Parts: sequence; C-alpha cells; structure tokens
Amino acid sequence: MKIVDLRSDTVTKPTEAMRKAMASAEVGDDVFGEDPTVNRLQERMAEILGKEKALFVASGTMGNLVSILTHTRPGDEVILEANAHPFHYESAGAAAYGGVQFFPIVGNHGILDAEDIALAIRPDDAHYPPTRLICLENTHNRGGGKIYPIEKIEQIRHLADQHHLAMHLDGARLFNASVATGISLETFCKPFESVSVCLSKGLGCPVGSVIAGSAPWIREAHRIRKRLGGGMRQAGILAAAGLYALDHHIDRLQEDHYHARQLANAISQIPLFEFTPSTVETNIIVLPIHDSVITPLEVVTRLQDEGVLTVPFGPREIRLVTHLGIDDGDVTYAIEIFKKLFGN
Ligand SMILES: Cc1ncc(COP(=O)(O)O)c(C=O)c1O
Repeated sequence: MKIVDLRSDTVTKPTEAMRKAMASAEVGDDVFGEDPTVNRLQERMAEILGKEKALFVASGTMGNLVSILTHTRPGDEVILEANAHPFHYESAGAAAYGGVQFFPIVGNHGILDAEDIALAIRPDDAHYPPTRLICLENTHNRGGGKIYPIEKIEQIRHLADQHHLAMHLDGARLFNASVATGISLETFCKPFESVSVCLSKGLGCPVGSVIAGSAPWIREAHRIRKRLGGGMRQAGILAAAGLYALDHHIDRLQEDHYHARQLANAISQIPLFEFTPSTVETNIIVLPIHDSVITPLEVVTRLQDEGVLTVPFGPREIRLVTHLGIDDGDVTYAIEIFKKLFGN
C-alpha cells in the first residue's frame, strides 16, 4: 500500500547525498573542541543567524532547555504563549532542572501582542517571581505553522528593553518562516538574545539543533549543555548533515509550503474540515473537525487505513505536515483519500 506520511517533518530520512556527506565528514573529539565539522557548522550558523557564536545540541528540546537555563535562575518566571512547545512538549524540563516557572498567555494562532505580554510582566515586589525571559516561537507549531510578524516581534523587543528582559526564540522552523517571507534569518533573530533552530525538521537532517547568541552567553550555554550530558564526541558525522542541508535543503522548503497550500485548498472544501486555507502559511496544517461525534483519533485511523498518516492534534483537530519526503504524487493521493473518505 502507498504510504504518505504527513505526521511531522521529523520523519524524513537522510538522502543518499546527505549520507555520503556524513560518511566522509572529518571528525574529532568535540568535547575537546576538536571536531572540525562541528566547528564549521557552528561558525556558519552563527554567521547566518547574525550572532557571535553558536553551539550544536542534540535536539530542539535540548536547545530550548539549555537556552532557558542559561537565561534564568531558580524561581524566575518565563513568559510564553500557551501553546508554546516548551510548555506542552518538553516534559517540564525548565521546571525540573532549572526551578523555572512558566507564565503561559493565550495568543492568536500562537502569536502574542506586546500588550498581552505587558500584562504578564510582574511588578518588582517580593510576592512575585521575577520575570526574566520572554520566549517566542517562529513558526508556531501548534499555531498551524504561523509566521511571527516581524513588527510584532520588534514591539515585544521594545517592551522587553523597557523591563530589562531577555528574549529567546524557539526557531525550530525559522528557515520555513524566512523562505516563506523573504525576511532573512538574521533579521528574524536580531531582536533576540538567543535563538534555537532545528536541523532535523524541514532541513531533513537525522539529528541536531543549533543555538546561537553572544560569545559570553554561548560560553555559559556550553557549560549547561555539558551539565545535561549533551557533550558529544565525534559529532561531526551529524554536523555534516547540517552543513549539507544548509547548502541544499533551504530553498526547497518552498515546495513544502506549496504542497501544504495544495492540501489546504482541497481539504478545506470538505465540509467536515472547512477552514480558511490562506491561514496555512508554511508547512503545517491544523485541520478542525466540525463534528462532535467523530473524534480526531477516528479520523486519523480511517486515513491511516488508506496509507495517509496524520496525528490527532487537540480535542477537535488533526495535524498534517509536509516535508522533503512528500512529492506531488503524494499530495494528489492524500487529497483523493480525504475526498473518498470524507467528501460528500
Ligand atoms: C516549535 C518546536 N520547538 C521545539 C521542538 C523540539 O524539537 P526536538 O523534537 O528536536 O526536541 C519542536 C519539535 O517538534 C517544535 O515543533
């Protein structure tokens, strides 16, 4: 049976060419700082993100955790959106390892306005935890791949400056935001003290994320990565995939966005899933289910029986994600199956 795997952009497998680049990577002991490929990836990422230094980490979760721990002390508070990845999907790492409290605020498709955040900043009073950090997510996963408007980020930066707060960007899919808008990675990253980007999502690498910030900030983050057991040895094998992806897998993200729009245009015409397709801005589609009887799991199971893999994504939603393993034929097939199962 044909399988079209739309569960996540993390399901991609390295291409032959990427595997070749990994196999022939020059390596060394990165805990000694001696892996030339890791060093090259870090230097290159620092440059394209417009930061002084960068650090290779095992995952997006580790990137966010190391970043939050680097910015905070136990008892501090971090403001983020109520659907943010570190709040939902990172096993409360910041609370468990850093004694950090989150202040989640409900946004619009994951996007917050400066005014929403202003209300959450604590007064300087012994009753309250000190607000230390604002975390934003671009693109926003649970927000349906929504791109953070740059003007909103700049307004939030202005607010953060007034209150001497740091800002961290969870840019797991920042490359998608940049390709979709034409806004450079550097421009998107400038308002933030720290940034985390994933290599193992749209860029198609098997493993890895990179965090970036000032030289002293990365020096401290490096210590925290070590403390968490994240010092890897001949990690150049993994970093080589990242370097390969920077050369070959950025521009092609447009294809993923095109495929997501095709899926959105077709599926949104099925009354069960009706929504405004123009809300799909990148490679993620969160489909609403307009029926109180059929559950997301039932929808997912029926699709799965026909080879179309998706995930339940909330009480009345499922999620579809396009990626480099999805081609035109896969999109056509998935649309056919949606119409066959749920069209009238
Ligand atoms: C927005 C966002 N941040 C962070 C992560 C965590 O990445 P990882 O799965 O590499 O830990 C994800 C993973 O899906 C994500 O969507």
